Amino acid sequence: MVVGPESGEANLAAAKKVRPEWVLQVTGRISPRPEGTVNAKLPTGGIELACEQLVVFSEAETPVFQPGAVELPGEEVRLAHRWLDLRRQAMQDNLMLRHRMVKLMRDHFDEAGFIEVETPMLGRSTPEGARDFLVPSRLDHGSFFALPQSPQLYKQLLMMAGFDRYVQVAKCFRDEDLRADRQPEFTQLDVEMSFVEADDVMGVIDSLVQKTAREVLGLEIPLPLPRLSWDEAMERFGHDAPDQRFGLEITDCTDIAADSEFRVFRGAVEAGGRVRGIRVAEAASRFSRKDLDTLTQMAVDAGAKGLVWLKVEEGSSLAGPVAKNLTGGIDARLIERLGGTAGDLLLLVADSFEVSCKALHTLRKHLGATLELYDPKTLHCSWVVDFPMFAHDAETGGWAAMHHPFTAPRPQDIPLLESDPAACRAVAYDLVINGSEAGGGTIRIHDSGVQQKVFELIGLSPEVAREQFGFLLDALASGAPPHGGIALGIDRWVMLFARLDNIRDVIAFPKTQRASDLLTGAPGEVDAKQLEELGIRVVTPPAAVAPGGTAPSP
Ligand code: AMO
Ligand code: AMP
Repeated sequence: MVVGPESGEANLAAAKKVRPEWVLQVTGRISPRPEGTVNAKLPTGGIELACEQLVVFSEAETPVFQPGAVELPGEEVRLAHRWLDLRRQAMQDNLMLRHRMVKLMRDHFDEAGFIEVETPMLGRSTPEGARDFLVPSRLDHGSFFALPQSPQLYKQLLMMAGFDRYVQVAKCFRDEDLRADRQPEFTQLDVEMSFVEADDVMGVIDSLVQKTAREVLGLEIPLPLPRLSWDEAMERFGHDAPDQRFGLEITDCTDIAADSEFRVFRGAVEAGGRVRGIRVAEAASRFSRKDLDTLTQMAVDAGAKGLVWLKVEEGSSLAGPVAKNLTGGIDARLIERLGGTAGDLLLLVADSFEVSCKALHTLRKHLGATLELYDPKTLHCSWVVDFPMFAHDAETGGWAAMHHPFTAPRPQDIPLLESDPAACRAVAYDLVINGSEAGGGTIRIHDSGVQQKVFELIGLSPEVAREQFGFLLDALASGAPPHGGIALGIDRWVMLFARLDNIRDVIAFPKTQRASDLLTGAPGEVDAKQLEELGIRVVTPPAAVAPGGTAPSP
């Protein structure tokens, strides 16, 4: 190792503590600053290091890449040599920011009377909608622990045990499809409170958001954070974590489409679908035919059957491949409904509500970024509330819990559990920052009868519910306070506050998109003896297994 003027601050800081026996070679001299000239605010403020001076601590081979290089190698190489990558100033800054933010969070909750309680890593599966990572038991062959997808049930049990204010910086594990803002192993700031309503939980987080934005970014966020219902979010933005840094809101045109002769519109309406669109102001001349084909392809990739694009011309007329089909005043009505003026581009999707949401959300996101409709330095924080309790489960054809099955229905919706589960709304709230889900929580069911009903609705027979969650039902039956909480995605918070778009940049040792660790090669094979002790036989021969830890792309 060589420490010199090009080293990061952390390495230079180490040079302050140099002991003669560590030094292999010194070119030039590191000298302590004379008393009175020491700058205590800088890690290197106690030493003088001139440009030509180098201190050699250990022999080193030429590194695979120079952390200070202008042109860095691809992410795969950097992940495989993470210790070098972490020497980069940007990575040092990211991890320093992470430390500061976690400390700020811990202090915030400490000051509000919360206590941190650790919960087990080896436990029973807690359903959060992903697959579990399993750990086989050596003492009980065929039995498995599940690594926690979240500490959900433990924190609820802590409320029943009388700890009214719980917080934990908690590791969570979810075996799910990875994206730029997801890791299989991530960290939550997990919170639970007794004798609270949704407003109380959101209030604690509101002030944390304000404090963090102020201290980290120097931004002043007015409170309370705006709230919109799930229905409104889906109607206006097509997504439950809408990016509200820009407009491009969705407008419903189903009634107009129903009056039209255009096959695509009529067909969708007759099938019970919707026709919705967005107006892109002054964009007609900015999009070539090829650009519009790209937008159409994006809508199709999101599940739509196509995309109607129309350019608004002078005199309330429309141009575009399907404009000729919009006769009988349909064109003028569409322009009026979407608020179009000459030079605007209108984009419409005719499909089921879900598909139109997906397609228009995809287009909004793309257009917001490519047309630079927002300042990337702004931070837009809001709540989405009143989620549906249940979503259709494509696999089973039944109901699945939209958050998790411990979420309370709104008190007025409890009768709907029997009569119309689809209409039942949950006391659930998601924190959205710049179009990312930065946290999510709910008020919990604290009545064992309601809990059993919800288990039944999601297809758990009383026997299975008892087998899996008997301890919860017993704890609820023994008297549970009303309680609720939330979990914030710490990695996502740091990523958003650092204005990055890759979660791996704020995690010291992250996994790739294929859930492997390029540094250590995990996951890896284990020797036959270990498998034997665990009573496990691998069915697929190793050669046939996809190369987990070898060279997947990040
Ligand atoms: P939820 O599943 O919404 O709620 O998770 C809370 C927050 O954790 C973050 N998050 C992730 N971050 C990185 N990688 C992932 N794979 C990942 N998955 C989730 C998100 C998310 O908003 N037990 C409930 C909370 C509660 O009800 O109190 C829970 O875990 O930012
Ligand atoms: P087609 O007759 O299927 O070739 O479609 C005519 C035009 O309507 C094309 O520009 C398609 O992209 C568009 N289109 C087709 N289906 C839909 C739909 N469901 N929603 C929006 N546009 C569509």
